[in-house]
Amino acid sequence: MIRLSVTSEVKAKCLIRNSRLLSTSSCLHQSPITNIHPVSPHQSPTHKDVNPFKLVENDLNNLYQDIRKELWTERPELEEIASYYFDGQGKAFRPMIVVLIARALNFDVRRVPDLQDSQKTVAMVTEMIHTASLVHDDVIDTADTRRGKPSVNVLWGQKKAILAGDYILSRASQMLARLRNDEVIFVLSQVLLDLVQGEFMQMGSKEDESERFSHYIHKSFKKTASLIAYTCKAVSLLSGANKNYQEAAFQYGRNLGIAFQLVDDLLDFVSSQAELGKPAAADLKLGLATAPVLFASEKFPELNVMIMRRFCEPGDVERAYDAVMKSDGLDHTRLLARKHADEALRYISPFADSPEKQALIMLAEMTLNRKK
Ligand code: FPP
Ligand code: MG
Repeated sequence: MIRLSVTSEVKAKCLIRNSRLLSTSSCLHQSPITNIHPVSPHQSPTHKDVNPFKLVENDLNNLYQDIRKELWTERPELEEIASYYFDGQGKAFRPMIVVLIARALNFDVRRVPDLQDSQKTVAMVTEMIHTASLVHDDVIDTADTRRGKPSVNVLWGQKKAILAGDYILSRASQMLARLRNDEVIFVLSQVLLDLVQGEFMQMGSKEDESERFSHYIHKSFKKTASLIAYTCKAVSLLSGANKNYQEAAFQYGRNLGIAFQLVDDLLDFVSSQAELGKPAAADLKLGLATAPVLFASEKFPELNVMIMRRFCEPGDVERAYDAVMKSDGLDHTRLLARKHADEALRYISPFADSPEKQALIMLAEMTLNRKK
């Protein structure tokens, strides 16, 4: 349990309220977060008995093989590059969320949880969009490794990496078009817009200090949470769920996605290079001011000038790192992630009880507790 002073808690609540205002979709329940009754994972009697991986095993067994089939082309090198990360070593975290939301809602709506083919397509498409964005991201970040192996840009160069990312996206778009469902296509095309805008937002720092945190949460939604939120919404549409449940699915994904990014930004400070598979404090080295730094800047205002110059002067990265460690920035970040995870669970609380619903509760806990 994280203990914070009253003023710290009030500040964190204000930040959360700001982040809620940035939601691109209207809220299912309008009560402010301070009035909600959070459904913490530890309150559920059964979620610890559920293994989310086991529950999705049948549906995702052939995920990577099926994606590789979709990536077939008469150009062998393009196919090889595009298939490179679909080697079965990925965590398939996003498809797992999509399958669990789909099955939970299928069960709620028609008492049969079985995944529909169209929902399986959305699970494949989410992994393909995610992977394409990482291929492009590694070009932007000039990353040498990804998932413990040399990155595509290192092996084949930047030009082919960009084209391979484009190719994965093109195939994913064809798969979506084959669903012949305008609403699903509309919802998922928003993800592509958000990914590009989120990555672009990350390239700039806000001059106005008071706007920095909301800019960061807005960026985190677009870059990370949008894909999870809108794919959850897409499978809810395909399940035949009503508008309230569509919104609940979206908000579960949105809040889980923001919690995921906050934990990612926290781990950048507390995990080792070996655990992360990338250098520690990588974000600072890339010039990025994430939640731990933004919270730390309240205690150490001298961070603001470093944030504006994107930690480019000699010694900036080390000084910023030390300031974060001497502040309560990490505790605040963890607390905010916890609040978003609780909020995610609040949204799915009306779903009919099922092993899938329990697994969704478990996923929120796993998101908070992950070490890499
Ligand atoms: C990882 O960021 C990157 C993303 C989650 C999204 C990147 C989006 C783009 C490059 C825009 C292009 C979009 C498409 C659809 C092709 P990170 O650098 O924080 O994480 P990392 O440490 O895993 O690299
Ligand atoms: Mg990167």
